[in-house]
Amino acid sequence: MIRHARTADHPAIREINETAFGKDDEARLIEALRANGDVMFELVAEAEGALVGHILFSRLWADRTGLIAALAPMAVWPGHQRRGLGGRLIETGIDTCRDFGAHAIVVLGHPDYYPRFGFSAEAARLISSPYSGSPAFMAMELERGALADPMSVAYPDPFSAAG
Ligand SMILES: CC(C)(COP(=O)(O)OP(=O)(O)OC[C@H]1O[C@@H](n2cnc3c(N)ncnc32)[C@H](O)[C@@H]1OP(=O)(O)O)[C@@H](O)C(=O)NCCC(=O)NCCS
Repeated sequence: MIRHARTADHPAIREINETAFGKDDEARLIEALRANGDVMFELVAEAEGALVGHILFSRLWADRTGLIAALAPMAVWPGHQRRGLGGRLIETGIDTCRDFGAHAIVVLGHPDYYPRFGFSAEAARLISSPYSGSPAFMAMELERGALADPMSVAYPDPFSAAG
C-alpha cells in the first residue's frame, strides 16, 4: 500500500534511508527539507504493517510561473528492492504531483532508470540548474509546454548543504 507519510512515520523513514543509502546524508536532507518547509509531499510504501519504501517531492524556485517539483530522495528497504516498489512509488508520486497542480517534475538520477517513467534529459535541456548538462538531470512535463521555454530553477537550500 502506498500512502502519504505521517509524522509518526518519520523514525522509520530515517531508518529506510540510512539502510538503503548506507549513510545518513539523505535522512538529514529529508529532515532539513521538512524543517525548512520545502516538502511538497512524502509517500511511503507499507508491507505487512511495516514501512519499506519512501519518496519525497520538494518544491523548486523557478524564475517563471509554474509549480516545479523535484523528486529526491527515494529509498526502498534492501530486502524489498527489485520487486517494482520503487516504480510504484514513482508512478504514484507523479500522479500526486498532478493532483498538487505541478506543471513539471525534475529528477537527478540514473539515466537508465527514470526514462521508463517519462523523464528525459531532453525535456530538461532548457532548464538552468546546478545539475544542468548532466545526463542524470532529467525532467518531465505534466502540463504541455511547461518546459518549452528557458527557465532557471533553484533547489531548496538543504540540497546545497547536502552537497
Ligand atoms: C533506487 C531504488 C529506490 C529502486 O527501488 P526498487 O524497488 O528496487 O525499484 P524497482 O523494483 O521499481 O526497479 C528496479 C530497477 O531499478 C534499477 N535500479 C535500481 N537502482 C539503480 C541504480 N542505482 N542505478 C541504476 N539502476 C538502478 C534496476 O536496474 C532495476 O531495473 P531492472 O529490474 O529493469 O534491472 C532502490 O534500489 C534503493 O533504495 N536504492 C538505494 C537508494 C538509491 O540509490 N536511491 C535512488 C537515488 S535518490
